[in-house]
Amino acid sequence: MIRHIIKTQVFTREFLNEIFNLSREMRRSVTNGQVDKVLSDKLIATLFYEESTRTRLSFEAAANRLGASILSSANARQFSSVSKGETLEDTILTLSGYVDCIILRYHKEGGAARAAHVSKVSIINGGDGKGQHPTQSLLDLFTIEDELGQIDGLSVALVGDLQHGRTVHSLAYLLGKFDKIKLYLISPKNLSMPNHIIQYLERHNIQFVEMEDFSNISEFDVLYQTRIQKERFDSLELYENSKGKLIVTRDIVNKMKNDSIILHPLPRIDEIRYGVDDNHRAKYFIQAENGVYVRMALLKMLLS
Ligand code: CP
Repeated sequence: MIRHIIKTQVFTREFLNEIFNLSREMRRSVTNGQVDKVLSDKLIATLFYEESTRTRLSFEAAANRLGASILSSANARQFSSVSKGETLEDTILTLSGYVDCIILRYHKEGGAARAAHVSKVSIINGGDGKGQHPTQSLLDLFTIEDELGQIDGLSVALVGDLQHGRTVHSLAYLLGKFDKIKLYLISPKNLSMPNHIIQYLERHNIQFVEMEDFSNISEFDVLYQTRIQKERFDSLELYENSKGKLIVTRDIVNKMKNDSIILHPLPRIDEIRYGVDDNHRAKYFIQAENGVYVRMALLKMLLS
């Protein structure tokens, strides 16, 4: 049984099946108003060193639905003793004496692994800098399977800031566990997928192509768009030169297969035009809602 959720490479297909089946069960129970409060004796902390809407609040919604109580530090860099210079390790050692599970968003890659190294309780990585965002990938994959019926054999385009985007890093590793997947890695040249992930795809014989435009759009089953991450650039000039190149418009979407889908981890800025939202392929707000069911399933598996 997995104790900490740090990176997607460790997930097996058996684990994914189990969590997706449980996520569907969670969705049914929420829809029917019959959620079992299986975590009513548990206390969960959300410790966030970076801003969040979806990850923190969907985890808190999931925990609440299951009857758990929550301690929340939504701006830990400013309003916890981190601002006095306390280390991540000391913070986790302290907090893991208070609660049964810690959901951590950290601003630097490797933060969740450092936390897991010292924690007495389960650590869930809610995003670590430009590292990984494993629970986002679980809900992304759940949404793909739910909408398209399967994952094997799909052509998936990962688009945007592939250099800094932790969601696409986690998702690339996860998609690589499925059969006959084809990945289109589409980004401006300076924001391409990091070498260690390219090497992983090569080592595991995963078919992929790196591109800078949407010329193969009619082949995609899934277009996974991401934001150009302004906060990760060394200079504003570099960001200004990188943005605005891969925008999903109505015209672009109309070239996609009729039964393809568009996903985005959100937040979006302008990389999917608002005019696309009423297209039947646009699934990003369903994807965000699925985050609650998948995170309920995960908390139940880890804690009950
Ligand atoms: N997808 C995602 O991680 O969104 P937040 O930054 O709002 O949590």
